Amino acid sequence: MKAKCVVGLGLPPDLIASLEQRYEVMHWSESFAMPEATLREWLSDARGLLCALSTPITSQVMESANQLSVISTISVGVDHIDLAAATSAGIPVGHTPGVLVDSTADLALGLMLAVTRRMAEADRWMRDGNWTQGWQSDLLLGTDLSQATVGIVGLGSIGQAVIRRLTGFGCKLVAWNRTPKSIDGVQMLELDEVFAMSDIVTLHTSLTEDTTHIASRTRLASMRSGAALINTGRGLLVDEQALTEEVCAERLMAGLDVFSTEPVPDHHPLLRQDNAVLLPHVGSATMATRLAMLDRAVANLHAGMSGERLSYCANPEVYAASAVC
Ligand code: DGY
Repeated sequence: MKAKCVVGLGLPPDLIASLEQRYEVMHWSESFAMPEATLREWLSDARGLLCALSTPITSQVMESANQLSVISTISVGVDHIDLAAATSAGIPVGHTPGVLVDSTADLALGLMLAVTRRMAEADRWMRDGNWTQGWQSDLLLGTDLSQATVGIVGLGSIGQAVIRRLTGFGCKLVAWNRTPKSIDGVQMLELDEVFAMSDIVTLHTSLTEDTTHIASRTRLASMRSGAALINTGRGLLVDEQALTEEVCAERLMAGLDVFSTEPVPDHHPLLRQDNAVLLPHVGSATMATRLAMLDRAVANLHAGMSGERLSYCANPEVYAASAVC
């Protein structure tokens, strides 16, 4: 009898077919996120779960899954999973670090340029039929990345990839990291100083209890007038209410790929702001990166289903506590 595995999101039919050769697959293919009650029911006798950010895996979900031997998420972030509960239940959590570094760093640069050069606003303005005169000396003036001080919050692999790209622009680079780090050409500062001294602050920390609202109301208020906040990490890194107020008051600009609630509700005030460039969580959305993420997540699933150690495990301490080493 094949072991059962739950796939909690829509995936290409050929991938599902290849999983079906090995497992009994329960596939949630609806366009909306799987309801928790369904997830609990499906997991009651499942050995594996392949999921993504849209499916919160709470301790209650894990309680009803007593045969579960692997959770494999198609993401590097694992903040949608109660990692402590997974560890104490002895369930390894697989994730996909490494493969989305370049795509996400590219998008962060894209947002910096789009915000400072008003690209989305200019595109809307032109499509709305406003370009009725030729070249105008004062049309849609922005600011130069080359003259900016850019503050990088978090020097993990994505933060460092952003720095490599920015080096080519010639801007001044300042940064903060939780643990001491030194990178050529980057001045390390206290977190508050990074916010207060930068024209652009870009967030690249993972979301934990400590980093929730790292871009706090006070830090946002300390930013220079006309500065921009860029976020390609997680929405909850930012006090979104405070940022919205700053952007609506036209004191700050924002380039956001992530939000505290996704999808963003229709009435969100930022949707009406020209000084904010908003994207629907597409940092890793290139064909090559998505394929690499899927490969890594499926490899983690197979390893966990067969009781082997996961190559990319977000809670490796689970192995110290169990017999699987
Ligand atoms: C991740 O992997 O955590 C991204 O946010 C989605 O690609």
